[in-house]
Amino acid sequence: MTAVARRLGAAPDPGTLDDAERMSVDELRALQLQRLQWTLRHAYDNVAFYKKSFDAAGVHPDDCRELADIAKFPTTTKADLRDNYPFGMFAVPQEQVRRVHASSGTTGRPTVVGYTERDIRTWATVMARSIRAAGGRPGHKVHNAYGYGLFTGGLGAHYGIEKLGATAIPVSGGMTPRQVQLIQDFRPDLIMVTPSYMLTVVDEFEKQGIDPRTSSLQVGIFGAEPWTEQMRLEIEDRMDMHAVDIYGLSEVIGPGVSQECVETKDGLHVWEDHFLPEVVDPLDATPLPDGEQGELLFTSLTKEALPIIRYRTRDLTTLRPGTARPGMRRMDKITGRSDDMIILRGVNVFPTQIEEIVLRTAGLAPHFQLVLTTQGRMDALGVRVEARPSTPVERRDAAAAELVTAVKDTVGVSVTCEIVEPDTLERSVGKLQRLVDRRAR
Ligand code: DLL
Repeated sequence: MTAVARRLGAAPDPGTLDDAERMSVDELRALQLQRLQWTLRHAYDNVAFYKKSFDAAGVHPDDCRELADIAKFPTTTKADLRDNYPFGMFAVPQEQVRRVHASSGTTGRPTVVGYTERDIRTWATVMARSIRAAGGRPGHKVHNAYGYGLFTGGLGAHYGIEKLGATAIPVSGGMTPRQVQLIQDFRPDLIMVTPSYMLTVVDEFEKQGIDPRTSSLQVGIFGAEPWTEQMRLEIEDRMDMHAVDIYGLSEVIGPGVSQECVETKDGLHVWEDHFLPEVVDPLDATPLPDGEQGELLFTSLTKEALPIIRYRTRDLTTLRPGTARPGMRRMDKITGRSDDMIILRGVNVFPTQIEEIVLRTAGLAPHFQLVLTTQGRMDALGVRVEARPSTPVERRDAAAAELVTAVKDTVGVSVTCEIVEPDTLERSVGKLQRLVDRRAR
């Protein structure tokens, strides 16, 4: 048995689960219908945008008699939130809004989201549930390195840690040497952080001459950006801990929309008593059956300040039946967003496909960038990747050649590969941006 298997990682005592986590599919569907009908009515009556969009589509909240009727209602996009910036999508008077957050967005205005007192309690509940599913228990210490501020990661995780009855260590992101010192001194059981920043912290352990496998950490709860199974193995091996996935987005609530259970690590259970998932064709939003891959949509079921109807996440996944929580469906790990997809000479390329290959190639570190340039009239993709500190210089050319061949064989596109010195590419503190677009406009 490996050291990892001996550590935290058991299923929670069923008696400690929330009622909703123990519901049958039928019980859950009945609850969802009742909550969906309330949400549609609440949005229609209180948000001018929804009244207008339902009216334009010729639908009314009364038309929702069964869950499948959701498909009659129009979808909502990030552009709709931006058009109603900052508070136009709120469904309650401002005196009832206890907090706002915003998602940065790469261009233009941020998307602003709001919470009533009850919304904050709901969020803490689903986050506490997520941390428990990851292996966290009352009494544990949790190092929270998600950014505090307008980003939902820091405070979202914080309230969940407290609600679970664990101890929050609110470190936020950045000051990497101090992250290591606090982990060594406070001896946390769990860490919550983006997977890319976890790697930066692991590197820092090694730089300080400390074996990261000797740290007190037993579980890492990683999300806010796509990451792969290969990355899970890299982190689990270098830290000797479990690495599990957490998903969420500001528009729906923040982190805690779905969570991977540590005992199964087989995709993320959607907390369906609060968030109704759908998967649709990314091109025309036609609903797809469970088991098929498409764009994920969410409808909130209990949110007061910012009810959200059929929100188009742009994230690509597949819905599957529940396992560790049999009533709640799972979503596959998000392998990409339709926005991150690079179309190279007609082939769709996701950064996560390159990540898998980089991590499988001996001698290459998990730090890489994708650089798009224009060559002649064509787009060209270059992979700039760091050598691992232990890689002999003679190995580098071979590693680059292996990567180029593997990308051609598995993804189907020709790329170039440049190997750079260890510790030269910029590190992320929060969400990582892998793509550098240098194409001529
Ligand atoms: O990233 C909320 C969050 C914080 C989730 C901390 C998990 C942990 P936004 O800034 O609104 O919210 O960004 C949401 O991030 O639509 C996905 O594209 C991406 N994302 C979030 N979690 C994952 C994940 C937070 N586990 C956007 N895997 C989403 C892949 C993720 N992508």
